[in-house]
Order: sequence, then C-alpha cells, then structure tokens
Amino acid sequence: MKAFILDRYGKTVGLRMGEMPEPELRADDVLVKVRAAAINVLDSKIRNGEFKLLLPYRLPLVLGNDVAGVVIRVGPNVRRFKPGDEVYAKPPTERIGAFAEMIAMDEKAVAHKPEALSMEEAASLPLVTLTAWQVLVERANLQKGQKVLIHAGSGGVGTVAIQLAKHLGAFVATTTSAANVDLVKRLGADVVIDYGKEDFEQVLQGYDVVLNSLGADVLEKSLRVLKPGGRLISISGPPDPGFAKEIGASWFMRLAMRLLSYGIRKKAKRHGVSYSFLFMRASGDQLRELGPLIDAGAIRPVIDKTFPFASTNEAMAYVDKGRAKGKVVVTMG
Ligand SMILES: NC(=O)c1ccc[n+]([C@@H]2O[C@H](COP(=O)([O-])OP(=O)(O)OC[C@H]3O[C@@H](n4cnc5c(N)ncnc54)[C@H](OP(=O)(O)O)[C@@H]3O)[C@@H](O)[C@H]2O)c1
Repeated sequence: MKAFILDRYGKTVGLRMGEMPEPELRADDVLVKVRAAAINVLDSKIRNGEFKLLLPYRLPLVLGNDVAGVVIRVGPNVRRFKPGDEVYAKPPTERIGAFAEMIAMDEKAVAHKPEALSMEEAASLPLVTLTAWQVLVERANLQKGQKVLIHAGSGGVGTVAIQLAKHLGAFVATTTSAANVDLVKRLGADVVIDYGKEDFEQVLQGYDVVLNSLGADVLEKSLRVLKPGGRLISISGPPDPGFAKEIGASWFMRLAMRLLSYGIRKKAKRHGVSYSFLFMRASGDQLRELGPLIDAGAIRPVIDKTFPFASTNEAMAYVDKGRAKGKVVVTMG
C-alpha cells in the first residue's frame, strides 16, 4: 500500500511516499481503508525527533494520528464493527499510521463516524476532541457557570475546546490574533483577548481552569488569572511527576519530568493553584460519547484547508507555520 514514511528524524526532513506492507491484522483489530486523515502538531514533533525518549518508535514509520474511513476486515475477536462500517479514530500511540491507504487498530480506539459528518470532517476531530474532553471533563471536571481560559482558541484544539466548554455551560475566555477574533466569537467565546493588543493577565481574573497549549511565558502568566484552588492544565508541557507515574516512566524519565516542571509547580503552589500536564490517549468509548454532541451540532469541525493525499508533506508544512485556523486534512480522493 502507498504511505508517507519517516525514514529518519529531523526538522527539515520530508516524508517519503513509498510502498509499505499491508498492516498486520491482530485478533482485536479492525483494518480500515483510509478516506481522510488530519495533520497534527504531534506528527511534526515526532518527525522532528522531539518524542524519541517518550515514544521510541522504530523507523521507518508511517505517521498520522487521526483517521476516518471504511472497515474492510475485522479480527476474530472484534464485536462492534463489520466490513463496510464508516468509522473514525485516533489510533493508539504505539500503532499510528493514518498517512497511508490502510491502517489496522484495536477496536477499542475506534468509533462509528457521526452521521452528520463527511469523511474529511470526521478525520479532523478525534485527537483534538479527545484532548479537549480529557482536559475539560475528565481532568478539570468543568461545571456549568465556571470560568475557563482556553489559549489559542483558533487552533485545532482551541476550536473544539471552546465549543465543548460552552456545551458544558462554562464561561469561556480565549486568546487569538485580530484575524481570528470573529471565528472564536462564532464558536461561542464570551471574552476574546487579541494578543496583539492586550495582555490576557491584565484583563482576566478569578478563573477556575486554564487550558494551556502555548509556551513557558504564557504558562506562567496563566497562573495569575486563576482563583485560589484553580487548575492550570497544560498540553504543551512541561510534563510533571503525575504524568511520569501514569505512563510508568523509568526513574531517569521520572527525575527529568520532576525537574522540568519544578519551577511551574513551585509557582503554582505559591499562587494556591494546581499545575498538571496532560497527554491525550486514544479512546473509542469517548468518541462514541462525543458522537451525539457532534451530530447535534454542539461540536462542529473547523477545517482550514484540505490537501490531496499526495501533498501530505505540503499539508504538514502548512501546519508547521503555526497559523492554522482549526484543522488541516488530507483526503484520499
Ligand atoms: N498533550 C496533548 O495530548 C496534546 C494534544 C493536542 C495538541 N497538543 C499540543 O498543543 C499545541 C497546540 O495544538 P493545536 O493542534 O491546537 O495547534 P495548531 O492548530 O497548529 O495551532 C495554531 C493556532 O495557534 C494560534 N496561536 C499561535 N500562537 C498564539 C498565541 N501566542 N496566542 C494565541 N494563539 C496563538 C494561531 O492563531 P493566530 O494565527 O491567531 O496566532 C493558530 O490558529 C501543540 O503544541 C500540540 O503539540 C498536545
């Protein structure tokens, strides 16, 4: 099958379009004919080698962390799916590979595609929607009437996190540039901070939760918008000891994560708030739970640009610029 393959790590390295063997179908797997795949910053970070220690993949590797397509074969233990089913998924971390004609995944990671969505739209949602759900619902237990600041509201995660937080009944503030103010307002943001004109820490206060997806300076400033007991949850690092424990990291990695997050944890404590890092995980169950919200229009996909499969490298380069409004998708045509 045709696939986009990473042969060696590096920032300037392009993926090679080449032939790979059809993926192995294990007893609990579904084999999916890929119709569309979304690009994620995670794909670029893996390509750059930034995840070498955390996710020790063997090269050559097929990248791609979001997929929508049609089931073509199922393993003997599979109960939920049959050939012909339209599905979407974030493949499990150890078996990524959506930039290909086919992908095999444990059925636990997969859900039926929401009926209201095209393949392209469905592919745009799993990773970012699961991330938003795991931060706002699982970790923060965000309640009606609570105040949440979602950074980078116009990005892949931000566009769905705003919609999910509004669906939960929260009051939502977000940061973006002037060009995207209308977009995030349409998604439901109550307060929009244009970071070119205003400093969010001067404007916002008394927040219950902050979802951070930006750098260290924004992370630290975010502490000051939280009320006592508030929660700063970051998906862009630094990883903390709780995360190290969750993934059963080696003592070396545990120590590294303790040190990397020492400063922000200490400052959070001084402010009477908590800091934690979250790395999303694949979950077919959560995608199933999200299906009715998506079909009802509470969470709508925001797609910036679509590329043909053959232009996967161009699609990744577009995301690498850091200015995507929502998601970038490649389609099989
Ligand atoms: N830990 C996890 O499980 C997890 C999961 C998903 C993503 N992530 C990480 O989260 C980060 C964001 O991911 P993403 O998919 O949302 O990225 P993305 O879609 O590429 O983000 C692009 C958006 O970020 C906005 N942006 C850039 N700088 C900004 C700033 N200083 N203030 C406000 N907005 C800004 C841009 O808007 P403007 O053009 O208006 O600036 C653009 O719309 C990445 O680092 C990614 O690796 C982690």
